[in-house]
Amino acid sequence: MDGIQIRCLHAIADREIRALSDVLIDCVEGGASVSFMLPMSRQKADAFWRNTSASVDRGERVVLVAEDEAGTIIGTVQVIWAQPENQPHRGDLVKMLVHRRARRRGVGAALLDAAERTALSAGKTLLVLDTASNDAARLYTRHGWQRCGEIPNYALMPDGESCATTIFYKLLRTTGL
Ligand SMILES: CC(C)(COP(=O)(O)OP(=O)(O)OC[C@H]1O[C@@H](n2cnc3c(N)ncnc32)[C@H](O)[C@@H]1OP(=O)(O)O)[C@@H](O)C(=O)NCCC(=O)NCCS
Repeated sequence: MDGIQIRCLHAIADREIRALSDVLIDCVEGGASVSFMLPMSRQKADAFWRNTSASVDRGERVVLVAEDEAGTIIGTVQVIWAQPENQPHRGDLVKMLVHRRARRRGVGAALLDAAERTALSAGKTLLVLDTASNDAARLYTRHGWQRCGEIPNYALMPDGESCATTIFYKLLRTTGL
């Protein structure tokens, strides 16, 4: 993790959209089930991040990024704040993405830790997520997330194959964060 920094993007400029799209495209082309199908175009990726940027501007979510020694974005994660009025204490953790060339160095763990701390300081005490990735499921379990169960046939992998999703949650205050 030497030289890797985690920061919160308060606004997402064109330069960041390009870099975030690089990460998203790499993850989808690497087989991650994260909303997109192959072929994964720059246009689809940029449109996703532009919508995300507008959502950040509306105060609905936070976007965290991991940057390498050169300041290049190599990973990202989001927490969605906006919830129904009866769930003000809950956030959804989404789009945990680390570029394949930066994996297995603790970047995912650092992003998760930062997302949990950011959520807790914003008054969130419960985070929820779902994942189709075994790599991600191990990461969440290691960080004290509770596995609720699996929903079969939930989504498609980028190549069109059906996949299940596993739901996880974490109570932030009781886990000593
Ligand atoms: C899931 C994902 C985010 C994990 O990111 P990552 O940066 O590789 O995560 P970490 O480095 O913290 O942990 C990954 C593994 O590397 C190991 N590791 C961490 N630092 C290490 C180091 N310095 N040396 C050796 N191994 C290390 C971890 O123990 C972990 O091992 P495991 O796979 O046996 O459990 C990444 O695989 C990814 O982007 N996948 C595609 C997108 C996706 O499916 N996202 C999930 C959506 S919910």
